Amino acid sequence: MKKKYKWGILAPGKMSAKFTRALELLDNVELYAVGSRDLQRAKEFAEEFGFQKAYGSYEELAADNEVDIIYIASPHSFHYEHTMLCLRNNKAVLCEKAFALNSREAEEMIKEATAKKVFLMEALWPPFQPIYLKTKEILTGGAPGKLLHLDARFAFQAPFIPADRKYNLSLGGGSLLDIGIYSVIDALYFMGVPSDVTAKAQFTETGSEVSISIIFSYKDGRMATLYSSFRTAAGIGCDLLCENGNLYFTRERDMSQRLTVAMNGAEKQEYSLLPDGMGYQFEAMEVMKCLDEGKIQSEIVPLSFTRDLMKTLDRIRAAAGIVYPGRD
Ligand SMILES: NC(=O)c1ccc[n+]([C@@H]2O[C@H](COP(=O)([O-])OP(=O)(O)OC[C@H]3O[C@@H](n4cnc5c(N)ncnc54)[C@H](OP(=O)(O)O)[C@@H]3O)[C@@H](O)[C@H]2O)c1
Repeated sequence: MKKKYKWGILAPGKMSAKFTRALELLDNVELYAVGSRDLQRAKEFAEEFGFQKAYGSYEELAADNEVDIIYIASPHSFHYEHTMLCLRNNKAVLCEKAFALNSREAEEMIKEATAKKVFLMEALWPPFQPIYLKTKEILTGGAPGKLLHLDARFAFQAPFIPADRKYNLSLGGGSLLDIGIYSVIDALYFMGVPSDVTAKAQFTETGSEVSISIIFSYKDGRMATLYSSFRTAAGIGCDLLCENGNLYFTRERDMSQRLTVAMNGAEKQEYSLLPDGMGYQFEAMEVMKCLDEGKIQSEIVPLSFTRDLMKTLDRIRAAAGIVYPGRD
């Protein structure tokens, strides 16, 4: 019989609600505990989704011996502190993106998990999605030929509210770590780590970056152009321009996905999908599968990918002048 895992939710905000709806789809999940900075909020979330326990602090959640896995969805600037708390309590961790504010913090988190032999994974949505997998399958199948250029964007209009985590530097504000990270993931996943990174950003009066344009170049002449913004409604998409044709994928805010394959001289092929649970259940399934197999990291989102991602984000921030005071 499949082992059931007791999940704990750390920081019951908007993302935790979406993730819990995905957990509800899985039969080897026990909705066990919620930890909030505020006991009343923890109780309300626990009641809404049917968790057994509610704690008024993250420390109590991490200390509960019954908890197997903790999902961390606090603002990015707390991922380091909260992941370390959970790892030190020997809890398997699935931590939201951005994994940390910089790669130094990420290295310490990885070091702690490795030393304690505890499972750790960044909660990256794209590598599990059918459209992403289909794109990879088509590219590796060879028909498109060499991928020459990737152009990716993630932008929506968000009102300027200085205290909001999108704009508040102390909460890791800025479009790059919040949404631009997905375009960076597209480039790393399909093209690898660039040899050169240039970037320019626009800033708000809180000092947070609101729009950024990035160019990656590779030793063999390939390039990627990436853009994220809270100012424009450019949407979410990635164009993969290849020798023999192009692949275009997009997604909507509800996580519905569409892939168009346009090979030179051939009819266009379209794939579209809206996964149940907005596709978040695949990450949870991967964590539990790894634990079933006694693994301390995932082969789909290995810690080496997270390390490359964090180092690349550091390079982009250095090029664009994005600084988190006291955290670089
Ligand atoms: N994978 C995805 O598709 C996706 C989508 C959206 C967001 N995310 C990630 O999920 C994380 C949370 O995003 P969200 O949109 O859920 O944010 P949110 O609604 O603001 O929730 C964040 C939660 O963190 C807790 N928190 C702890 N310290 C805080 C502080 N100083 N200020 C504000 N909140 C604090 C709060 O819960 P308590 O006070 O109750 O403990 C709050 O509810 C971010 O890292 C974001 O990048 C991922």
